[in-house]
Amino acid sequence: MTHYLDHAATTPMLPAAVEALTEQSRRVGNPSSLHTSGRAARAVVEESRERIGAALGARPSEVVFTSGGTESDNLAVKGAWLARRATDPALDGVVTSAIEHHAVLDPVDYLGDARGVRVTRLEPDRCGHICVDTLREALAAGGVAVASVMWANNEVGTIQPVAELASVAREHGVPFHTDAVQAVAHLPVRFDDSGADLMTVSAHKIGGPVGVGALLARRDAPLVPIAHGGGQERQVRSGTLDAAGIHAFAVALEETVASRDVEAKRVLGLRDRLLEGALALRLGITVTGCWTAGDTTRRLPGNAHLLVPGCEGDSLLYLLDAAGIECSTGSACQAGVPQPSHVLLAMGHSEAESRGALRLSLGHTSTEAYVDAFLAAMPAVVDRARRSGGLL
Ligand SMILES: Cc1ncc(COP(=O)(O)O)c(C=O)c1O
Repeated sequence: MTHYLDHAATTPMLPAAVEALTEQSRRVGNPSSLHTSGRAARAVVEESRERIGAALGARPSEVVFTSGGTESDNLAVKGAWLARRATDPALDGVVTSAIEHHAVLDPVDYLGDARGVRVTRLEPDRCGHICVDTLREALAAGGVAVASVMWANNEVGTIQPVAELASVAREHGVPFHTDAVQAVAHLPVRFDDSGADLMTVSAHKIGGPVGVGALLARRDAPLVPIAHGGGQERQVRSGTLDAAGIHAFAVALEETVASRDVEAKRVLGLRDRLLEGALALRLGITVTGCWTAGDTTRRLPGNAHLLVPGCEGDSLLYLLDAAGIECSTGSACQAGVPQPSHVLLAMGHSEAESRGALRLSLGHTSTEAYVDAFLAAMPAVVDRARRSGGLL
């Protein structure tokens, strides 16, 4: 039996979303076509837009559909920078955090390398939190076109003070984007209350299909397209709309939001059981970042991130996989070579410490049996990983 503990990578689709996707996929019609089938597809898209807006505290007109988190992040960062720069060439700066997902970090780096943008990366504390004052300092010098700080981190699960960060950005007249991809499943995310100008969400992290998401964008947010074509979605995101995917996204989001508080508490209990159990194994394991059992304000309820000394994260991953437990090291490989996580390095961990990283992320299919299977497998897995010296 497989125990899937990698919900931060992607979470299984909810049955109602599978049904919605399948049902709509049977129909033909480009939502931009004017005939009956096209108008029917358009009606599905617009109804979904309203449902998604309502679930996330956004007006329907603030929902810009995209192909997912990566595209939304790119559109937010590059589209806002281009729009602001066009109005004032003196705006040469972009501020972000050092622990963003690559979907934000890399477009920001691209702007730095290719367009000469001055990039400021806010450093987190040892827990992975971004202090509001660091943003205030970065904006004080002026000249910043856009600021982007994620709502919750995908590796270590830290939750940032988004409303405070957005308010500081607003004081300085700087548009603020937040990547809320990891936050929506378990936190009470509302675009209107967040104060953000732009917010990224992705369907496959909340039980919807892969390949669809949205950028929530205030009507007055500076934004120009980064891909040009048919002019769909307020002229900022061209491309035929995926009516089936969008419909399934709306269904998954509504279901997720309706059960979110209860589910967050349930998953939190499992996560605490996992962390307490992992520490009790006496294998030298530490919990990364700051963790207080029962707390949902500073760390995502479903996030467990461990450092296992003397092991390569990849060895642990493969051995756990062989034992039927699917998890992640939390960071990417580059050309097949495991890289120490930029998030852990920014939090002050050494490269050597960062190598033994293991991320277990829990979600709607997780149960106590999954947690216990992981804990039961760990002693033998750690022993083998240590003996292998990273050669697995
Ligand atoms: C924080 C964060 N941002 C962006 C993305 C990219 O989203 P997508 O897979 O929908 O492109 C991910 C996916 O792992 C993520 O965790």
